[in-house]
Amino acid sequence: MDRTDYIELLKEAQKYADAYHNNDHPLVTDDTYDALVREIQRIEKLHDDWVLPYSPSQRVQGSPREKSVKIPHHIPMRSLDNAFTSDEMIEFFKRSELDHTPLVCEVKLDGLAISIEYIDGILHQALTRGDGEIGEDVTSNIRTIRSLPLKLATESPPHRVIVRGEVYIKKSDLHQLNQEQRRKSLPEFANPRNAAAGSLRQLDAKVSAERPLRVFLYQLFIDSQPGGVDHFDALAIMRKWQLPVNPLSEKVDDAYKANSYYDRLAKMRDSLPYEIDGLVYKVSDYNAQLEAGFTQKHPRWAIAHKFPARTEVTQIETITIQVGRTGVITPVATLKPVNVGGVTITHVSLHNFEEVTRKDIREGDSVYVRRAGDVIPEIVSVLPSNSARNAPPVKPLRCPSCNTELEYEQTLIRCPNTKGCPAQKERMIAHFVSRKAMNIEGIGPNIIQLLIANKLVDQPIDLYRISKATWSELPRLGEKSADNILLSVQASLNSQLVRYIYALGIREVGVTIAKTLADHFGDFESFFAASEEDLIAIHDIGPTVAEHILNYTKEPTHLETYHHLVSMGLQFTDEKSSNDLNSLQFVVTGKLSKMTRDEITAALRSHGAIVNSQVSKKTSYLIAGENAGSKLARAKSLNIPILSEDKIIELLKNPALLVNAPSSLD
Ligand code: IVH
Repeated sequence: MDRTDYIELLKEAQKYADAYHNNDHPLVTDDTYDALVREIQRIEKLHDDWVLPYSPSQRVQGSPREKSVKIPHHIPMRSLDNAFTSDEMIEFFKRSELDHTPLVCEVKLDGLAISIEYIDGILHQALTRGDGEIGEDVTSNIRTIRSLPLKLATESPPHRVIVRGEVYIKKSDLHQLNQEQRRKSLPEFANPRNAAAGSLRQLDAKVSAERPLRVFLYQLFIDSQPGGVDHFDALAIMRKWQLPVNPLSEKVDDAYKANSYYDRLAKMRDSLPYEIDGLVYKVSDYNAQLEAGFTQKHPRWAIAHKFPARTEVTQIETITIQVGRTGVITPVATLKPVNVGGVTITHVSLHNFEEVTRKDIREGDSVYVRRAGDVIPEIVSVLPSNSARNAPPVKPLRCPSCNTELEYEQTLIRCPNTKGCPAQKERMIAHFVSRKAMNIEGIGPNIIQLLIANKLVDQPIDLYRISKATWSELPRLGEKSADNILLSVQASLNSQLVRYIYALGIREVGVTIAKTLADHFGDFESFFAASEEDLIAIHDIGPTVAEHILNYTKEPTHLETYHHLVSMGLQFTDEKSSNDLNSLQFVVTGKLSKMTRDEITAALRSHGAIVNSQVSKKTSYLIAGENAGSKLARAKSLNIPILSEDKIIELLKNPALLVNAPSSLD
């Protein structure tokens, strides 16, 4: 082993790091990479004079700084003008007569701008933007970002290379970081930019090294001039040097074509692993850039097209106590309506009183409200205020709906009156009719309250028993809405097992778990009969969820309710039915003793059979219990085979017999 071999190992390590971090395409396993780094460290121990500053062992260096150091930028760091509509964006390029010039479209990361200098290919200095003229030295912190090479991957680096870009934190990493902050009773970061800035500008680089910082670069200067033949080429050169460049950059023919990029990226926004607050369009041609020049602050050849904001300021009007469908008590803030990212928000859950105390949220406060994609809106923090504030909200001792004494289990407060609490009933029914559950339209909170107050509904099944006359007698419900509700109620009987399981409102059984259960059991009876062992044997179902399910299935009335619904016509299209009886039609009559009529009906339907109420020429079998009357007579007159209760129970064990040999069954 000589020094050249050592240098080769460094090169190899960087190649692997680049493939892993910048191309999402690991060339070796993590173990192999770690072993390589250990080998490098072993050699460095033996030959401490060989150690190079760009060795992977040298990412975290030196002792903490005393205070921050300010350094001027070689080239000032400008910011971008903003457009909020595509018209504004087109106008901007028209003003510089650049609306027919090719543009590079990039994502605008919500992070912290950084300028990094490489001298003779070796990372030399990193500065934050600061005021654009003077930045803060964060070299030791930047070195800890593993996707950033400490040495450019080229044999002939220009003397001075400056690359600029954005330091950011992935959404999932921010989530974890905030969990960690909570655990340590430290304040959370309101957004990825704050988290990135706070993590990068640490005096102790060891702290930065523990933070999940990443960087994407979007600007290249070689010896103080823009690098490459044009901007798009600059991105390619940076990639070639193994610098991290965002993969979503694209070149388009002109400003008008940039709109389709906007539409595409706006759709992708939520699914990207990092937060973007807009797009950046840059004229690719350097001569055109030079000609257009700068205003006081901004280039005339590049602009940010911002997405609608996701954080807004509004005021808390009141804080009320909500009782959930499982009795959980949640403080909820009513807000002065505010539009966040295109959606008007009037209420946000404050989750629990610990959260209210931690964020010190009170009525009348001005607050930041955040909404990201499908994520439920939340209060990020309270704005400082000079005027007197209201007192903090008080934890309730009794249920605001039924006045039952509340139970406290750590941060959880619960109303134990599961059967009698009107608020829980309301929420249960609201859940049952909701879109992802039985999807019954037209039954909003006001109607539910009326139904409960008038004792028309006690449980969800009661919805199916309300007549048209009763619906239309409800205050403010005309005949037309009554008709629509009735239709929607009826239509909901053609459902899916997953919807029904979800609609039951079992604690912790959301749509995903409901789907797992529906797929696993295939029909409601099997689900209902599942034991604890059956349940926890299913992947994704732990003992707690299993316990909640068993709490539900231990009540036989719940199975009766299901059979009742089946007799009213409830059918599931996703049921794992064998379909072996799908060519047959049955009628059940008379008094049965072993199974209820609903159970037999459900069992037949689960095999794909049709169950009718009247005997006709098309009837394949009549199932007759005791004291069967006119239906039995009619079936006999039509020569339709008749089965006793015992016989059908036996035959259902081998349904093929019903299809193949109708005449030989007696
Ligand atoms: S170009 C002279 N490109 O947005 C052009 N900026 O005000 C300088 N940003 O300070 C910036 N993504 O922190 C550029 N793809 C991108 C960007 C980007 C994010 C940030 C950067 C800049 C601010 C614009």
